[in-house]
Amino acid sequence: MSQEKKQAALRTTAIMCILFLVAALTVILGMMLTLNNWNVFAHYDRILALTVAVFVLFAVFYVYLNYSSNSRSLESMSKTKLLAVAYTAIVFGILISCAAGSYLNWYALPLAFVSLLVGILIRVRVGVMATIIAGMSVMIISPATELIGDAPAVMSVVLGCFTGKLSGFVMAFLIRKRYSRFKLTWGALIVSLAMMPFSVLMSILYISDPELLLNNAIATAIGNMLAVALITASLPLYERIFNVWTDFRLQELITLRQPLLKKLNEEAPGTFSHSMAVANLAENCAVAIGINPYMARACGYFHDIGKSKNPQFFIENQKDGYNPHDELIPEVSVSMITRHTTAGYEMLKAAHMPEEICKAAIEHHGDSPVSYFYMKVKSITEGDVDDKEFCYEGPCPTTKYSAIIMICDICEAMFRAKPPEDMQSLEKAVDGVIKSRLNEGQLDDCGLTMHDLKLIKQTICRAIPASMHKRIDYDKAKERR
Ligand SMILES: [Fe+2]
Ligand SMILES: [Fe+2]
Repeated sequence: MSQEKKQAALRTTAIMCILFLVAALTVILGMMLTLNNWNVFAHYDRILALTVAVFVLFAVFYVYLNYSSNSRSLESMSKTKLLAVAYTAIVFGILISCAAGSYLNWYALPLAFVSLLVGILIRVRVGVMATIIAGMSVMIISPATELIGDAPAVMSVVLGCFTGKLSGFVMAFLIRKRYSRFKLTWGALIVSLAMMPFSVLMSILYISDPELLLNNAIATAIGNMLAVALITASLPLYERIFNVWTDFRLQELITLRQPLLKKLNEEAPGTFSHSMAVANLAENCAVAIGINPYMARACGYFHDIGKSKNPQFFIENQKDGYNPHDELIPEVSVSMITRHTTAGYEMLKAAHMPEEICKAAIEHHGDSPVSYFYMKVKSITEGDVDDKEFCYEGPCPTTKYSAIIMICDICEAMFRAKPPEDMQSLEKAVDGVIKSRLNEGQLDDCGLTMHDLKLIKQTICRAIPASMHKRIDYDKAKERR
């Protein structure tokens, strides 16, 4: 067996041992909460049997998570983080469900907490799977603890869990697209009301007392609202502890109070204004191709943050006609300019920014040449130039966000320097930018399809004229009066 395989087998065995311990702890705490009694160790045989059953569920989830973590959408999250987020959510979901069932009602299980938390932090379909695992664990732990033999009570737990899981699935569906705190609370309220008749239908299978039916319906609504309250309280903690960038956290990042943006605004106002414009274009492009618009906006805001190290070397920040490049040889000028990608990457890494934003900073010029100086030296030396000396270090874009920033960055700078005369020249110029990057191989590893590029081109062509609209010249208007 190779060293690599040995290590993988060792790692899996260690994870299985940890999962067994977690399952045992969950069963013991779950039994305590269900029985409302801390002295459960006398039932050690039952504890062992339940631990094995819950461990099997946890192991099935591990296999599923292992399979899912290979998908492109989850590759930015490490496997350890994935496991930690998912299993803590499941265990917490099981325990609060045992407590809610025992102290309130078995229809008041906040299982939607698991689907929402895992759905927001990882992925919706992983959230649905986690809810199934948590719900089945509650179904196993609670009836076997004390209620075995009491058929209506077992039915209550089983159907309560089923209703809780279904609420979780519907709630998970709510956050499939973009979500806001209001949408989450409002959605929970609607789902709670919609699930009430469903819980009555479930209860009618084994009870006929109208008061009990109504109790179960109200308990279902309470369970769902409890899930949203728990999410609101625990999500910021999860975001910070596991450094996960949810839409909520990204929205906080793209406010102008963010220290790095403040610094950019104060020290490089020209770059700041350019970054805002690039961010607007990038957000529109992200919406068009169906990726996260908050992340795209954040990439736009921070892509040139490295320029704040030496802002005067960039034309957009130069004042009073002074250009430090007039006093430098082209090679030095180029190194001062190209440095902003690596400097930005280091600044963003030090600030613990999301990987996509750091990558956008270092990748948005790919390994293309600094055209102005390259052409200048080429004309002086009659073509005898080592082009590598005039190029950015790269790498070329490896994410859709970096590629969008690359295209929007060039278009914004190009049309700011020379606004397009008409729609035809605009389309031709944007088409030229995309084609030249494709021909240079800059977009080979970014994951954008030709259809995505077509949508990006259409979006930029729509957004540029709107950003360059004309306004009334107030001085001339006054003169006319
Ligand atoms: Fe740049
Ligand atoms: Fe830029």
